[in-house]
Amino acid sequence: MKILVIHGPNLQLLGKREPEVYGSKTLKQINTEIRGHAKALGVTVTVVQSNHEGEIVDRIGSAAGKHDAIVINPGAYTHTSVAIRDAVTASGVPTVEVHLSNISAREEFRRRSLIAPVCKGTIAGFGARSYLLAIEALAKGE
Ligand code: DQA
Repeated sequence: MKILVIHGPNLQLLGKREPEVYGSKTLKQINTEIRGHAKALGVTVTVVQSNHEGEIVDRIGSAAGKHDAIVINPGAYTHTSVAIRDAVTASGVPTVEVHLSNISAREEFRRRSLIAPVCKGTIAGFGARSYLLAIEALAKGE
């Protein structure tokens, strides 16, 4: 199984960015955990980060045929991006939305995800573990 992991905007700042909300791990450390977990599960992962909505749309748009599933943390685009939502729908690739923080327990504007309704599922609130849980769920065919 091949999984494309997409980190959205500002996630390159993890470790420094609001550690009380997002934890103290850097993106590099999280990616090491993702790769280790994927390897243990026998899954191949490609990990990318982008601050640009169009680039994320392009990545999702070219995923079909190359990746069996997508794990995406759309960052702030979660709450605004019809383009990312449409890309997920158009791709037909099973997608799991993840968040480090529990977006349902935060500011009103973060409680609505435009992406969640077109995803297989959402995992939020478990820090870096949200990504690992998503990969595990996909790898085990849940
Ligand atoms: C986030 C939650 C979003 O609301 C926020 O804009 C982020 C990170 C999370 O992982 O908790 O950038 O996606």
